[in-house]
Amino acid sequence: MDALVNIAAIAFLLSLTAYAVALGIGNLRAARLNARTAEAECDLLRQRIEQLMDHRRVERSKAELSWNGFRKFEVMRKTPEGGGICSFYLSPHDKKPLPPFVPGQYLTFQLNIPGQRKPVIRCYSLSDSPNHPGYYRVSIKAVPPPRDKPDVPPGLSSNFFHDQIREGDILDVKAAGGHFYLDMTKHAPVVLIGGGIGLTPVLSMLNAICESGSKRETWFFYGVRSSKDHVMKEHLEALAREHENVHLQVCYSNPLDEDVEGDDYQHAERVSVELFKRVLPSSNYEYYLCGPPPLMNTIVPDIEAWGVPKKNIHFEAFGPATVKKAAPAKPPEDKAGEAAAAIEVTFAKSGKTCAWDGSSDSLLDFAEENDVTIDYGCRAGNCGTCITAIRDGGVDYVVEPGAAPEAGSCLTCISVPKGKLTLDA
Ligand SMILES: Cc1cc2nc3c(=O)[nH]c(=O)nc-3n(C[C@H](O)[C@H](O)[C@H](O)COP(=O)(O)OP(=O)(O)OC[C@H]3O[C@@H](n4cnc5c(N)ncnc54)[C@H](O)[C@@H]3O)c2cc1C
Ligand code: FES
Repeated sequence: MDALVNIAAIAFLLSLTAYAVALGIGNLRAARLNARTAEAECDLLRQRIEQLMDHRRVERSKAELSWNGFRKFEVMRKTPEGGGICSFYLSPHDKKPLPPFVPGQYLTFQLNIPGQRKPVIRCYSLSDSPNHPGYYRVSIKAVPPPRDKPDVPPGLSSNFFHDQIREGDILDVKAAGGHFYLDMTKHAPVVLIGGGIGLTPVLSMLNAICESGSKRETWFFYGVRSSKDHVMKEHLEALAREHENVHLQVCYSNPLDEDVEGDDYQHAERVSVELFKRVLPSSNYEYYLCGPPPLMNTIVPDIEAWGVPKKNIHFEAFGPATVKKAAPAKPPEDKAGEAAAAIEVTFAKSGKTCAWDGSSDSLLDFAEENDVTIDYGCRAGNCGTCITAIRDGGVDYVVEPGAAPEAGSCLTCISVPKGKLTLDA
């Protein structure tokens, strides 16, 4: 009996000790967990403060170092990237420091092309991250004649860059601008989408995320026809290999026989919301897109239809604005539902008054249709070339202007009349 009592007592003592040890370990674990959580919170706070200070530093040096008008840049390197794309590395001719830019912004060039009556203005996105204070890089695709018009001349500026511009040449460049950019102080997960040459601004964003050491979840969709057009392949693959937060998804719409799925590319299809639904864990991302009109015209409305709020969808068109904020203005209907008289648009300098019936996409198109000349560059509201003074009336913008026009004037390439209008053109 005594032996039994002793055994029970020992067992009781043992379990008490075990309980005390477990409690101790538990407390120790909880204390360690609390300490780790506090440490992580401190880290996050530190990171946020650093980012905020970085942001302030960037804003200050942008204000101090930026320039008005055109500045001379030297082409320090010209690198063929394949797929008809060539990169140009530009350094300021005056050797003074460069202002930082935000990834996604573009440069505006003024080119003196032999045979052209006037300088040609074109915009090109900065294709590398802003973390290279010694140079800016743009990557340009040589634009061929349209497929249905093989006899017209190929793209003026892009082919001038490819065929005529050499290392050591000097170019006139406006400071970086544009509203399509990634806010580097934010941490929200992002989906970056580049179609064809629309790769350039989103590549700058991707490079910036990777080089900043940010752990921001990043999905990168790149759509091209096949390996022939697939540029920066090794660079993109290295980023995806070295950064576990980066998920690279390359789509070939028309792969060649020798292209290997799973190796050269991930999906034999176009980039689409159907693909996002299959690949992304949810729709809960900030979307940044740049690509040709068919891609933009389908994906932007499809992402919205998927339930993504408009404020989380950011896009840029390289050519004539494609995804419209609003339909072009139509003349108002009268009470009986009949279309009222067309809107009167007067081009004062040309001495023409024309009837706007809502069928033109922009005032610039309308001017050209009526043989009124207005200079233009990007036709997308970015370069400011088509700016025209408004003598009377007002306009609506069909897409957000890249740079706000001066008061009393409008960017004719992306605006439509609000009502009766007189332009100084
Ligand atoms: C914000 C922004 C960023 C951009 N970023 C980039 C970038 O990073 N990389 C890049 O490569 N591009 C970029 N672009 C596009 C770039 O600015 C130019 O639009 C592009 O290079 C074409 O210009 P181009 O002078 O070569 O062609 P254009 O001379 O403007 O010709 C355009 C097309 O019209 C055709 N054409 C010529 N004459 C006629 C005619 N009579 N009838 C019908 N068609 C005709 C040409 O063959 C060509 O196919 C960007 C554009 C914007 C607005
Ligand atoms: S043509 Fe560039 S802003 Fe209109």
